Amino acid sequence: RTVYVNGEYLPETEAKVSIFDRAFLMADGVYEVTSVLDGKLIDFAGHAKRLERSLNELDMRKPDCFDDLLEIHRELVRLNDIDEGLVYLQITRGAPGDRDFAFPPEDTAPTVVLFTQNKPGLADSPAAKTGMKIISVDDLRWGRRDIKTVQLLYPSLGKMMAKKAGADDAWMVQDGFVTEGTSNNAYFIKGNKIVTRALSNDILHGITRAAVLRFAREAQMEVEERNFTIAEAQAADEAFITSASAFVMPVVEIDGVALGDGTPGKRVARLREIYLDESR
Ligand code: PDD
Repeated sequence: RTVYVNGEYLPETEAKVSIFDRAFLMADGVYEVTSVLDGKLIDFAGHAKRLERSLNELDMRKPDCFDDLLEIHRELVRLNDIDEGLVYLQITRGAPGDRDFAFPPEDTAPTVVLFTQNKPGLADSPAAKTGMKIISVDDLRWGRRDIKTVQLLYPSLGKMMAKKAGADDAWMVQDGFVTEGTSNNAYFIKGNKIVTRALSNDILHGITRAAVLRFAREAQMEVEERNFTIAEAQAADEAFITSASAFVMPVVEIDGVALGDGTPGKRVARLREIYLDESR
């Protein structure tokens, strides 16, 4: 695999980052994941915009290559011959010469790393037909989940709690209400209405979320952005998650309770179809 590190395209075995990198020592970095279908990036502009916002919110310098990021994504997709897959991008506050809680000097160059993940059949995932089982866990993350930082330890623990319980993923709950999945936004459908948590610092402002809600409204579905509980989702007709890597994925069980007849619902299947058609 050819990867990109600070201006260079290299074989992954030759790519190097300093042990003093702020992301390695302090999780001081932000990232984006953009999907690739038919060799083309999906919604790159949305990801670039959120990336810029993440950098701003953390007072992180834009790397010199910022305006070339689309070109770098495309070049990596080409070099690695990706038809279906993902491009991962990470920008960190760079690698000062030592460990220090204070930010490094202004002129410290950010570290920029990109790599591709080849995922043939991504759009045709079997999970879209079987649906996902979800467990709920406490949301123990920090208070700025709207910034896409690389502090992913708690989401990773949540994923493992789910796996241990024989489920596929976890929905995180704060003060009795669902925030989001470990790496996706969470929704349920009751009748013709989609319910999902409103945007705030409590959740990541999903790029897929924005597109799916737009397509849903265009398809005359009602969208309600508000807090909801696990019990309300369990009593729904259908449920689903969205992310750049999963697109729209049905949920068939929450904390051991089957939704509807326990198989993926028609409306979610339709939303997935619309999303894949419209965003390609
Ligand atoms: N995760 N919420 C969280 C906590 C996420 O980590 C993600 C994305 C989303 C969905 O955002 P988007 O639709 O822009 O992908 C919501 C990526 C895919 C990841 O960490 O791999």
